[in-house]
Amino acid sequence: MIELCALTLDDLKNIAEWRNYDIASFRTGRPLTNADQEAYFQRLATDKTIRMWGIRQTLELDELARTTSNGIEFPYETFGYGGLENIDWENRTAEISLFIRLSHRLKGLGTKAVDLIMQQAFDYMSLHTVWGEAYGTTTAPRFWYGYTCRHGGSSATFTDRKYFGGRYYSSFIFQVTDDKWREKCALYQ
Ligand SMILES: CC(C)(COP(=O)(O)OP(=O)(O)OC[C@H]1O[C@@H](n2cnc3c(N)ncnc32)[C@H](O)[C@@H]1OP(=O)(O)O)[C@@H](O)C(=O)NCCC(=O)NCCS
Repeated sequence: MIELCALTLDDLKNIAEWRNYDIASFRTGRPLTNADQEAYFQRLATDKTIRMWGIRQTLELDELARTTSNGIEFPYETFGYGGLENIDWENRTAEISLFIRLSHRLKGLGTKAVDLIMQQAFDYMSLHTVWGEAYGTTTAPRFWYGYTCRHGGSSATFTDRKYFGGRYYSSFIFQVTDDKWREKCALYQ
């Protein structure tokens, strides 16, 4: 089972390590340090414009036994993080952010995580629109194009949005609204 969970400081330190191998996907184009993650952990507790979660799955029994023999005792594995940033409570919009650890990609986990984040946005936080931006430095725009089309959203491609390695890349900007999302979301079918 996939679920959202509270992010711990240890999660954030692991996440920095995974993320630093994938720097081209992110707006902040430098590797993150433990000090960055400690500051971010404090900020998460007080900043009303950000709400982030860890994304974890319950390990199957055999997997749990294997993991335990390696000295890890928890029945959960956190394999990504995601949430809502730039939350604008007045206009009821927020920007989605998502990162799935490389070893866990292309297994449908990203799609399930987006469903859970959208559910938080629409069914618990009363937001109306969730938008996002995926840079053309990676193939992630194809993931978001698929999700947006399946959920009745709208999108556009803008040029010159990300400067990386001495040149500009375009970005795919998309949005999904609560009414259309509820009609199409796998969680409610
Ligand atoms: C983008 C990302 C979240 C996708 O997560 P994932 O768990 O691999 O996605 P899923 O397995 O749920 O993929 C769902 C669909 O998208 C497609 N897809 C996923 N990642 C893709 C990629 N990089 N390129 C092309 N297609 C992709 C899958 O093939 C699948 O298609 P299908 O439904 O036709 O089979 C993940 O690659 C990631 O964390 N990337 C780095 C961070 C990032 O770019 N975040 C986006 C900015 S907010």
